[in-house]
Amino acid sequence: MARAKIALIGAGQIGGTLAHLAALKELGDVVLFDIAEGIPQGKALDIAESAPVDGFDADMSGANDYSAIAGADVCIVTAGVARKPGMSRDDLLGINLKVMKSVGEGIRDNAPDAFVICITNPLDAMVWALQQFSGLPTEKVVGMAGVLDSARFRHFLADEFDVSVKDVTAFVLGGHGDTMVPLTRYSTVAGIPLPDLVDMGWTTQDKLDAIVQRTRDGGAEIVGLLKTGSAFYAPAASAIQMAEAYLKDQKRVLPAAVYVDGAYGLDGMYVGVPTVIGAGGTEKVVNISLNEDEQAMLDKSIDAVKGLVAACKEIDGTLA
Ligand code: APR
Repeated sequence: MARAKIALIGAGQIGGTLAHLAALKELGDVVLFDIAEGIPQGKALDIAESAPVDGFDADMSGANDYSAIAGADVCIVTAGVARKPGMSRDDLLGINLKVMKSVGEGIRDNAPDAFVICITNPLDAMVWALQQFSGLPTEKVVGMAGVLDSARFRHFLADEFDVSVKDVTAFVLGGHGDTMVPLTRYSTVAGIPLPDLVDMGWTTQDKLDAIVQRTRDGGAEIVGLLKTGSAFYAPAASAIQMAEAYLKDQKRVLPAAVYVDGAYGLDGMYVGVPTVIGAGGTEKVVNISLNEDEQAMLDKSIDAVKGLVAACKEIDGTLA
């Protein structure tokens, strides 16, 4: 059977890391696409030259023409600009919306059967716009945010409890912004919910609150340290986990920005919720029950996403 084809739209910091991880995991052949000439070709060749050392079989190529992504099984989109210190994800909206238009049309015309994972920020609005511009089915267009946000949460929790990250699970709902909702009640160490761990005296509520806030600010913390761009290792690892779930029909339950119609009182919008990812794309939205406080936080986050979508519609009148 032919190998899967993975198209990476955007060959910057995240795009290059995605290519390397996809190759190391032998998920398929990789095409890096970018408007910058030489960058996708150079990164593809550099990674290909590491194959004899690491021992993976995957074709690597770079391109500046959308015809190169023809027939891709998975497209991961990072095209656009990244944050600099002092910028919020929302500051990127105008520039990256235009990028989503050209990327959406490129995917529509060349890889209409692909599972599309969007990483470009502001995430929830960009994945919505990408689905609109590409016209692909909503279950085949998804945004990567929840896996990253919950990975950050898990890392901070594992550090606090001094246990393996493998034994920490976490859920983060809502938009990929300051209003995201890390759900402590549904986050556990070895199955023990975080509020119980506070009761057991393993940590304090103050420490837990600080970790929740650090999770919300996780992206800005990295931008502040790097100064020249935003995070790329953890975002790339997160999107690769989603791509692998699709390609291998793993039916992983992962938080992601998916089109929610009916659950959580929503009538058709992209927002971060737990979803099952398998060969059908986002096969199911997991509609967990929320208490009053959690619902209020989610509602606030949903309003923030709605504001961004409205701003997109104002900029581009073709968006419905
Ligand atoms: N089509 C294709 N590629 C484009 C386009 C376009 N219209 N516009 C820009 N690019 C490319 C740039 O040439 C660059 O190589 O997108 C790439 C972006 O790479 P980086 O600037 O290194 O950004 P990166 O850190 O990879 O982040 C990409 O993901 O997390 C988000 O906020 C982040 O929106 C940003 C995106």
